[in-house]
Amino acid sequence: MSSQIGARLIGVGAAVPSAVVTNADLQRLVDTSDEWITTRTGIKERRIVRGNETATGLAIGAAKEAIAYAGIDPGAIDLIIVATSTPDNLYPSTACMVQVAVGATRAAAFDLEAACTGIIYAMAIGQQFIGSGTYKTVLMVGVDIHSRFLNWEDRNTCILFGDAAGALIMQATDGENEILSTYLRADGSGGHLLSIPNYGTAYPFSGEEPPKAMDRYLKMNGRAIYEFAVHAVPEAMRASCAKAGIRIEDVDYFVPHQANQRIINAAAERLGLRPEQIVSNLEEYGNTSAASIPLALRDAVRRKQIVPPATCALVGFGGGLTWGAAIVRWTASEHIANGEAG
Ligand code: UT7
Repeated sequence: MSSQIGARLIGVGAAVPSAVVTNADLQRLVDTSDEWITTRTGIKERRIVRGNETATGLAIGAAKEAIAYAGIDPGAIDLIIVATSTPDNLYPSTACMVQVAVGATRAAAFDLEAACTGIIYAMAIGQQFIGSGTYKTVLMVGVDIHSRFLNWEDRNTCILFGDAAGALIMQATDGENEILSTYLRADGSGGHLLSIPNYGTAYPFSGEEPPKAMDRYLKMNGRAIYEFAVHAVPEAMRASCAKAGIRIEDVDYFVPHQANQRIINAAAERLGLRPEQIVSNLEEYGNTSAASIPLALRDAVRRKQIVPPATCALVGFGGGLTWGAAIVRWTASEHIANGEAG
């Protein structure tokens, strides 16, 4: 790693739809209660796209906020990676749509799919491109609109998810490397535990139409994913800290994927973390999949829970199964434009 060029995060941003759906709203759709949802998940409300709001629109909003935070010229961006499982189209990629909308005319652009761990995968790729000297500035966006794939009559799943986008900007640095480690894992043998089936090309080509009544809703074995998560999160945290050459005690803030407050608390307890180290905004947004880690980081920076300089552990897990972590030093102050904080 010593021959690699160092990298740091210089910007964070997010965008959420304006419509709020509360637990009380869901009580009118399925047999549930605010009390059940709150005690089992920690979620109080979530944002859901309406009308012409799209994944691309949210991704562009988050990207623009991160660019403003960093105070960079979009023309300086070399690469855009959008992590999403719910793109508007199979192609063009969401990343290409972000590229044109933000004016990153020089940037290469592609999407990747690693479900809720997508932003961690994007960070690992960004770090590699910067470390090798290929690129200097990488924009990473996580965006998901799960509301379009939920069965709103299934209380096991429809209460959990919200729509959002979150973005990070990583840049090469002459100073100390601040992306201390990235760590990626996958286990396809658990793929069936969390899936959105039947949107791909998995039907034989024989001239006939695809089956008419395909069940295309998100499927989840909640218990199994819960068990997976409470083991995967501490494992990723320990492995990424070891890779970074630091102890868990050296981590100031734990920024986990926002899936369920009980998962977050159980993992934090296993790791010996204090409540004030835990970053959570699940209550307000639910599980926003690939967006959740940058959205949580953005909010923690905004409300000054995270104040630079701080060592942060970003830890993701989700469908695939996938999981992973990034240990980063957060030193980026918000760029001040025209004498005012942007
Ligand atoms: O990004 C990763 C995405 N997924 C996750 O992170 C999910 C991880 N899993 C979880 O968060 C939890 O397993 C859930 C929140 C999904 C479920 O909580 P649980 O404590 O594991 O509940 P359960 O599935 O064991 O269900 C307990 C009971 C069942 O009733 P019976 O069979 O005991 O009569 C469910 O039918 O709760 C019932 N139930 C509900 N009741 C009211 C399930 N969903 C609801 C609901 N409202 N929304």
